[in-house]
Amino acid sequence: MAEATGATLEAWLDPTGITTKRLHIRATTRDDLPAMERTWLDPEIRRYLGGPVSTETLELRRQMQPRRGMFTVTLDEGTVVGFCHYGRTDRGDLELSYSFLPEHWGYGYAREACTAVLNWGFANVPGTERIVAITQAANLRSVRLLQALGMAKIDEFIQFDAPQVMYAAFR
Ligand SMILES: CC(C)(COP(=O)(O)OP(=O)(O)OC[C@H]1O[C@@H](n2cnc3c(N)ncnc32)[C@H](O)[C@@H]1OP(=O)(O)O)[C@@H](O)C(=O)NCCC(=O)NCCS
Repeated sequence: MAEATGATLEAWLDPTGITTKRLHIRATTRDDLPAMERTWLDPEIRRYLGGPVSTETLELRRQMQPRRGMFTVTLDEGTVVGFCHYGRTDRGDLELSYSFLPEHWGYGYAREACTAVLNWGFANVPGTERIVAITQAANLRSVRLLQALGMAKIDEFIQFDAPQVMYAAFR
């Protein structure tokens, strides 16, 4: 995933003030590293993402944080429930990805957060006509989430030796 450049940079760096009924969404900081490390190492979270990352990748990712386009999702009292991320595909589309902590699955938090993050992307990242998301077809929770977000399946392909599906939300 490429990083945003030029005119979009400010918007990418400042996802402040996003609130939903139950959640707060803000730019990720280094204080979020312990929760973020779980999203790189927890076998349940990594099940459809190639498994836990290697020690070398872990160290690299630690040094790279906080990344541009990374959003931390918290409950009212500040508990981190997960992360959303915006990158760019090779074709230049804004790409949404997400990773929530398993003890917070099944409450609709990912839906609530991703809805707000999609709206934020359309409103704040100039030139965004569509936002895509890619997931393994076997990742049923993720597929259900994308369908619940009202995104449409636009492509299917094989990557990392597994069937992948691409969904899109349109402005
Ligand atoms: C993909 C992922 C975010 C989905 O998490 P999730 O909690 O299942 O997603 P949602 O927010 O859509 O929650 C939906 C569930 O909450 C339930 N729910 C409970 N209260 C709800 C509410 N108030 N509103 C909506 N749904 C609610 C729904 O019934 C549904 O339950 P079900 O899974 O038993 O059908 C999560 O599995 C994850 O982080 N996986 C690891 C990372 C990953 O694979 N990412 C994909 C590649 S980018």
